[in-house]
Amino acid sequence: MLPKNFEKSLFMITISPRVKVNMRGVEMSVEGREEMRKVSVLIAICFVLALVLSLMGQSQQNQNALKNIMTQVDPAWTSLQMNLDSGNAAGVATDAAKLQRLFDAADRFFTKMNMQQPAGWAKEEAAAAGAAAKAAKAGSVDKNAKAAIGKCKQCHDVYRQKNQDGSFSLKRQ
Ligand code: HEC
Repeated sequence: MLPKNFEKSLFMITISPRVKVNMRGVEMSVEGREEMRKVSVLIAICFVLALVLSLMGQSQQNQNALKNIMTQVDPAWTSLQMNLDSGNAAGVATDAAKLQRLFDAADRFFTKMNMQQPAGWAKEEAAAAGAAAKAAKAGSVDKNAKAAIGKCKQCHDVYRQKNQDGSFSLKRQ
């Protein structure tokens, strides 16, 4: 138990029967000391756990950012191909501008992840989409733009993996 002379004051906080804090400091018995040590270890474990969880959350958030980009790339790409085939310059301009923005976002994503190769590919596709949008705005539709913008497989083959449940995720090299 606590030493007999432990001063009881208005500001005394009881952590446990063996550990009490008053205005002069902390007073504790030997068992109290052991108790505090356990509490410290517990607090340290909680900190580490919180750190791990927050890192895991961050990585999940990153994953979702790319998924969000790709699910928008998909319909824009389908629409662009159709508009290129039918020679619809206004449609090409809209779709290509959208793809340019999305691949720019993908470039930023991969750059942030320190993945230079896919970042470079995304940058190239953003540039090709930008050029196609510009030409279409001036009224010319270039079917060859398909090859430059549609290098989806090149990147997917290396950086995309199919999970057992059929969903896709980023494959870190
Ligand atoms: C520079 C790399 C890169 C390029 C270029 C790229 N992708 Fe992706 N894509 C990925 C990665 C990595 C994933 C896996 C991420 C995920 O789905 O969570 C992915 C996932 C996808 C998905 C699955 C989304 C989902 O999770 O349901 C679709 C659809 C897709 N891409 C379409 C396209 C199309 C269409 C193009 C070309 C016009 C393209 N991508 C170009 C890297 C790329």
